[in-house]
Amino acid sequence: MNLSTEQLKREGEIAVKGFLNMDIDPSLDLFDEIRKLKKEKNAVVLAHYYQDPDIQDIADFVGDSLQLSQEAARTKADMIAFAGVHFMAETAKILSPEKKVVIPDLKAGCSLSDSCPASLFAKFKEKYPDHVVVSYVNCTAELKALTDICCTSSNAVFVVNSIPKDQGIIFAPDKNLGAYIEKVTGRKMILWNGACMVHEIFSKEKMTKLKLRHPEAKIIAHPECEAPVLEMADYIGSTSGLLKFVQTDSSQSFIVATESGILHQMQLKCPDKTFIPAPPNNLCACNECPHMKRNTLEKLYLCMKYELPEITIPDQIIKQARKSIDRMMEISARAGLK
Ligand code: 13P
Ligand code: SF4
Repeated sequence: MNLSTEQLKREGEIAVKGFLNMDIDPSLDLFDEIRKLKKEKNAVVLAHYYQDPDIQDIADFVGDSLQLSQEAARTKADMIAFAGVHFMAETAKILSPEKKVVIPDLKAGCSLSDSCPASLFAKFKEKYPDHVVVSYVNCTAELKALTDICCTSSNAVFVVNSIPKDQGIIFAPDKNLGAYIEKVTGRKMILWNGACMVHEIFSKEKMTKLKLRHPEAKIIAHPECEAPVLEMADYIGSTSGLLKFVQTDSSQSFIVATESGILHQMQLKCPDKTFIPAPPNNLCACNECPHMKRNTLEKLYLCMKYELPEITIPDQIIKQARKSIDRMMEISARAGLK
């Protein structure tokens, strides 16, 4: 039976519903229990920078999505517990098809990845038969399988520059990252109209006011933000890029325009510096990703204990998707990037 990722997701949801609702003994020390499970099951725990501090602290690796999947692939673990969102766990599975990959909450999706369903994209792509497809890794395994070259927000400019100038490019799924790459490379691309709900919410007006209150603070932003926010930034980079920047830059304070989970690692790495979350344009002043925050320590414990919900991807999709990631890695290696 050749089930699509969507179908598998639904099957998995039914299977795990029971144990997700299970009560956990409140006297359990979940840190200890997770440590025990790691040993017992020869498992590694991965946490994206946007996870809650507790989850970051118990993880074996904390990082951006691709970096985490690469780290896990290099280990001899039998099981990967990916505290992140669905597309990230899929990438881990693509890079480690022989390992079992579990995720604390199967409903931890992503507005950006969801904005580009593979079936619609396949039709869109037919309109541009001579174009090369470059996709940001923040997309489903099925979209990766329709992609020629993947990219991350760190290597996107190198990937696009590696393509001959007269070659047309479709860029998916993030229109903001796409527009940023167009600006830096001077290349025109066909952009899929997708976006991340967290990075689109930052308000230029509120950031201008905040900057007036903290004139010494540098503004740093993720390229998934909209152009008016990026224009205010002193530095633009991926989550790993932002983290590196605050450690090497001489400034003492930063206004950070990305999901606020990253502040935990920034504060750990630079305890004497000040990090101010950029203000979003909403009333609750929250710039947390609701998908990332579905994961909790309890759900991490349960997914490791019951080895569910598991990420499964049809072999053919793994094979095709892997090619687009490998092409990106070749280009990154040629450019001297990690
Ligand atoms: P990176 O960690 O790859 O920069 O991606 C940011 C993001 O929004 C992940 O969900
Ligand atoms: Fe998706 Fe944006 Fe959340 Fe990242 S922050 S998982 S891109 S919705």
